[in-house]
Amino acid sequence: MIRSALMNVMTAAALKAGRGLKRDFGEVENLVVSLKGPGDFVTAADKKAEAVLFEELSKSRPGYGFLMEEAGIVEGADKANRWIIDPLDGTTNFLHGLPLFAISIALERDGALIAGLVYNPATDDMYVAERGQGAWHNNRRLRVAPRRDFSESLVGCGIPHLGRAEEHPRFKTELAAVMAHALNVRRLGAASLDLAFIAAGRLDAFWERGLKAWDVAAGIVLVREAGGYVSEIEGGDAMLASGSICAGNEATLQRLMMLLRG
Ligand code: IPD
Ligand code: CA
Ligand code: CA
Repeated sequence: MIRSALMNVMTAAALKAGRGLKRDFGEVENLVVSLKGPGDFVTAADKKAEAVLFEELSKSRPGYGFLMEEAGIVEGADKANRWIIDPLDGTTNFLHGLPLFAISIALERDGALIAGLVYNPATDDMYVAERGQGAWHNNRRLRVAPRRDFSESLVGCGIPHLGRAEEHPRFKTELAAVMAHALNVRRLGAASLDLAFIAAGRLDAFWERGLKAWDVAAGIVLVREAGGYVSEIEGGDAMLASGSICAGNEATLQRLMMLLRG
């Protein structure tokens, strides 16, 4: 486990916000079967979790800036440090009572990602990484899967939802290309967890387009610190800005990129 002061601050904030989310998730499980559904309730849970993270991190590290999904950018007096936060990644899962969602917190220092945390409060799974200190799942050190044979690789992806129908044709082409060569494909519904699962060697590769910085910032640190590789599908490293991302070990990532480029 990483016992740095920074990681203590991050885990304390995530555990506190996570307690609220877990309680609210219990309530959602009752609401999913009601006619009105849990939509508004989930929006409130999401905002509440973000407010807790903002408050806790501001208290422990005064002056740091923020980039958050709900509240957006909050400039800090300290221009070098910025938290990148998704208080609830996997909203659709949460809304449907599926226990696959997470709090995602990353710290960017002087433009570089130096720490990442992905926490699923439903299962109490904590994934953390800090530059030079490795990636960890609870108390276990993480390593990406060593598998090199793509035909044995389990590949995660993101599927553009109904509101992004214009992206469906390209996704179908990409899926067809990957299906023809990989063992199988998974769509789990929380990009931060997809990347944590790459770090943990559960998935061998992953790709998605159209993501936001808060979906991937923490996961990128996890993958890198677990010995894996992350890049844009097109090959650059502006994943936070472009939202295009693929990850894996050296071999699976190269193969996946080749397949996606057609
Ligand atoms: C979403 C999840 C999902 C991805 C979407 C994201 P949200 O985040 O990460 O896996 O496919 O593109 O928007 O909305 O649940 O925070
Ligand atoms: Ca998200
Ligand atoms: Ca979110």
